[in-house]
Amino acid sequence: MKINIRSSFFFTQQKVIFKNKFTKADMKNIFFFFITAIISQLTFSQNGINAIKPGEIWPDTEGNHINVHGGGILFYKGTYYWFGEKRLPLSEKDKSLYGVGCYSSQDLHVWKNEGISLRVINDTSNLLQPGCLIERPKVIYNKKTGKFVMWFHHELNGQGYNAAMTSVAVSDNITGPYKYLRSLRPDAGVWPVNFPEEYRKSSLKESDLKRGSEDWKKAVKEGLIVRRDFAGGQMSRDMTLFIDKDGKAYHIHSSEENMTLHFSELTDDYLDFTGIYYRVLPGDSNEAPALFRRKGKYYMFTSGTTGWKPNPGRVSVSEKISGKWTPLGNPCRGTDNENKVTFNSQSTNVLQVEGKKDAFIFMGDRWNPENLADSRHIWLPVEWENGNPVIRWYSFWYIEKLK
Ligand code: DGJ
Repeated sequence: MKINIRSSFFFTQQKVIFKNKFTKADMKNIFFFFITAIISQLTFSQNGINAIKPGEIWPDTEGNHINVHGGGILFYKGTYYWFGEKRLPLSEKDKSLYGVGCYSSQDLHVWKNEGISLRVINDTSNLLQPGCLIERPKVIYNKKTGKFVMWFHHELNGQGYNAAMTSVAVSDNITGPYKYLRSLRPDAGVWPVNFPEEYRKSSLKESDLKRGSEDWKKAVKEGLIVRRDFAGGQMSRDMTLFIDKDGKAYHIHSSEENMTLHFSELTDDYLDFTGIYYRVLPGDSNEAPALFRRKGKYYMFTSGTTGWKPNPGRVSVSEKISGKWTPLGNPCRGTDNENKVTFNSQSTNVLQVEGKKDAFIFMGDRWNPENLADSRHIWLPVEWENGNPVIRWYSFWYIEKLK
């Protein structure tokens, strides 16, 4: 077997070690070895401490892969807190350990496991019983009450994704434990602000149409599901929270059978809905909303709706939180195959780096439905092209280099 010595770092070393006379070529190899070692040492030491490596195992301070998914980050008193779905590793049989996990970090690289902030409740009369689903939890701080408020997508034990509820929990301490308050479908008995009078009056019903047909889609766009769920409350699946510059918080969720996003205003204590809500991008099937504000404009990353499988990402812009939102297309700037699957990820949050003027990080999940605890974190810097946000793939990159 012919081995190309130069192409293999390992074999280059072997060759050098087992000879006692050095030829010119060996000297070249030795030089090459040291230069490569220095470069890789620099890269590794930066990698070890500083580099973000999307898609790789991301060990916490105890060496375990960070197990918070579909999450968000809250910066509080000099520390970042990363909350997310604490998925049970395949070996974990104790179902009571399922819930919302929390990690803390000063630098966004080194994360300490702070344990479970909210866990399922071992009581079959409780909606938060083991077997329920807790997805995309987000935590915000209420300056007026001094409390930390957590909302999450909540599906009930044994009901698949049919319940389509959201739940709220509260704590005096950022890491928890959070007290579970209730689960609900938002905005029962109220019409969206931007819902025309004729939509309210229409007598068209779901049973008149074939689900998924073009007529059904048109009818959904024109309020079919809003009318259906008017009394009991609107569906709430993938969700995020966003605090506007006036301190008003919004619960943003996939509603209407995942066809339309709802932006629902929260009460001043962030613990309930005010009943003011807006339909956004009706009929466009958006999931995984992740919002941020920059230079007076609002941006939102979303995905399409293909379960755990990735699909082409989307980004939209608006002058106001309440709209009107304008789609800007796929933000990915990779190969066609990469763009089709958002670099094999789905958006979950956009993090603004503290102390930097213009540093935003796209946070996504590369789901592993066979073992959700092993899902990987896809963090990429938000870049700008003709004034619009875009993302490019970097196998490693440095937050420190963001401006
Ligand atoms: C897509 C959602 O974005 C995820 O959070 C999760 O609910 C999966 N669907 C489940 O299929």
